[in-house]
Amino acid sequence: MMNTEKFDLPDGVNIRYSKPSDHPRIIKVMKDWWDGRDLTPMLPRLFLEHFFNTSMVMEDRENELIAFLIGFLSQSQANEGYIHFVGVHPEYRGSGLGTYLYHRFFQTCRENNRAIVRTCTSPVNKGSIEFHKKMGFQIEPGNGQQLNVTVTLDYNSPGDPKVLFVKKVSDHV
Ligand SMILES: CC(C)(COP(=O)(O)OP(=O)(O)OC[C@H]1O[C@@H](n2cnc3c(N)ncnc32)[C@H](O)[C@@H]1OP(=O)(O)O)[C@@H](O)C(=O)NCCC(=O)NCCS
Repeated sequence: MMNTEKFDLPDGVNIRYSKPSDHPRIIKVMKDWWDGRDLTPMLPRLFLEHFFNTSMVMEDRENELIAFLIGFLSQSQANEGYIHFVGVHPEYRGSGLGTYLYHRFFQTCRENNRAIVRTCTSPVNKGSIEFHKKMGFQIEPGNGQQLNVTVTLDYNSPGDPKVLFVKKVSDHV
């Protein structure tokens, strides 16, 4: 497992691995960053307690949170990593921060012999679907269509379809 480290990005943006105390500031911004959808019940503090050193935050010069990624190395699937959430401050979108976070997580997976990365999103989240396609993810076959995208029906609970994404990040493990 990698240790927490900090390094500079161009334009005054810093990235570092997260720590448990980042949890309150992450959940504080989520509703705004997700267009008013409150997804905070899906990010209980345990993610920051147990996966902080595979999760990342980005901050500006004033240490304001501008992006985060919550990810982990699967305990049960020995060849896989999973991205649970990614969010970029609306004013910073479209400048590659999401890509940077994903590439860092892919690197973390490779360093830990994980060749597969999985994630999922809701069919209503068209921006997320486009972003994941740009990141090179494939959509899993699924068992339904909603809003013109292939979904796995009743994934988390009845009436809760998800778009399941998978990407191979290494040929060597
Ligand atoms: C999805 C999200 C993380 C993307 O972050 P970002 O920093 O803006 O993404 P990038 O700038 O790295 O974009 C990478 C590519 O994806 C594309 N992309 C990103 N968001 C997009 C959108 N909403 N619609 C269409 N394409 C999009 C970009 O155009 C870019 O393509 P390019 O390489 O051809 O230029 C950000 O929009 C966000 O925080 N959304 C709200 C939270 C959310 O839905 N998270 C995902 C589900 S957990």
